[in-house]
Amino acid sequence: MFNILTLNKISSIGTSRLGENYTYGDDVQNPDAVLVRSASMHEMEFDSNLLAIARAGAGTNNIPKDKCSEQGIVVFNTPGANANAVKELVIAGMLLASRKITEGIDWAKTLKGNGDAVGKMVEKGKSQFVGPELKGKTLGVIGLGAIGILVANCAVALGMKVVGFDPFMSVPNALRLDPAVKLMKSNEEVMVNCDYLTIHVPLTPDTKDLVDADMIAKMRDGVRILNFSRDGLVNSTAVLEALKSGKVAKYVTDFGTDDILGEENVICMPHLGASTPESEENCAVMACDQVMEYLENGNIINSVNYPAISLARTSEGDTRFCVMHKNVPELLKKVLTEISGNVENMLSKSRGDYAYTIIDVAGADKADADKIAAVDGVIRVRVI
Ligand code: MLT
Repeated sequence: MFNILTLNKISSIGTSRLGENYTYGDDVQNPDAVLVRSASMHEMEFDSNLLAIARAGAGTNNIPKDKCSEQGIVVFNTPGANANAVKELVIAGMLLASRKITEGIDWAKTLKGNGDAVGKMVEKGKSQFVGPELKGKTLGVIGLGAIGILVANCAVALGMKVVGFDPFMSVPNALRLDPAVKLMKSNEEVMVNCDYLTIHVPLTPDTKDLVDADMIAKMRDGVRILNFSRDGLVNSTAVLEALKSGKVAKYVTDFGTDDILGEENVICMPHLGASTPESEENCAVMACDQVMEYLENGNIINSVNYPAISLARTSEGDTRFCVMHKNVPELLKKVLTEISGNVENMLSKSRGDYAYTIIDVAGADKADADKIAAVDGVIRVRVI
């Protein structure tokens, strides 16, 4: 029996996949896993039996990943599950950045009460809301992951030239990218060569203030900047200065901060990228499936702190030892000497300072788990 604590509302399309061996809800005690959307977990203490945290979404800034790694808690996300929803909002953002749509809507409301004169007033006043088309302009895409690729491909379909950069682009993502997208050699090369810039990378110490005053100074005059990824990627003070001077024509974001709200040429909306029923369902399904696979089989799919690893169960009689450990020399050798049965199958993967090893043993003594746990550098051992 597994206990799953939900810290936010998780679509029932996802939770209904948790079978009869699962209890879930927002008041579950001693959870084996946590499902979360936006709730901050940074101040939380974790029970020693907590095995996994799954974020139904892409970003994991609300989860203390280092602490989880140290405690042998796997953190999952759901990359791509909300990518289409975010892509659609980014495309809307590009149109809003161009065509003075929000300004026009606000102005049209002021004509209320003018009766039959409204039509003429609209025709007379509309010239103030002229804005350029996207076709033929260059979009720069920083980050060609699940979302960046969809945005890039869609922009190509809209007739835009697209340049992009991602030092970590996976092979499957590269295969999905429209060949018309020109790959650049650095973020800077993208940023200085575009009329519209959109950012699709996580917020890390390396990406904080990716768009700052120095970088903006090198960009094309009148560049339009979109940030639907994370607050902090764009330095708002620098953008506000550049909007005043006209260097930046528009800043569109779904991260409101007090300093940018209501400022001219800033279009700021709530963080709505993934707020569609479809993406809430997709994220919940993916998060629940990944948690079940980990709890039941020890396989890790889409973790942000432990390696991806999947080993098929071969023989029903085998005992599976799942060992989370430090990625240090000689450790596995010591682990294997503690196993008394016959190792039938085994897979070990590392990620940075941490590693994870699955060992299927025939004729195992489950008590070996305690001996494995005592090996220096072993963080946690599960027997499935
Ligand atoms: C994500 O991280 O998946 C998106 O920013 C949307 C969200 O926070 O839910």
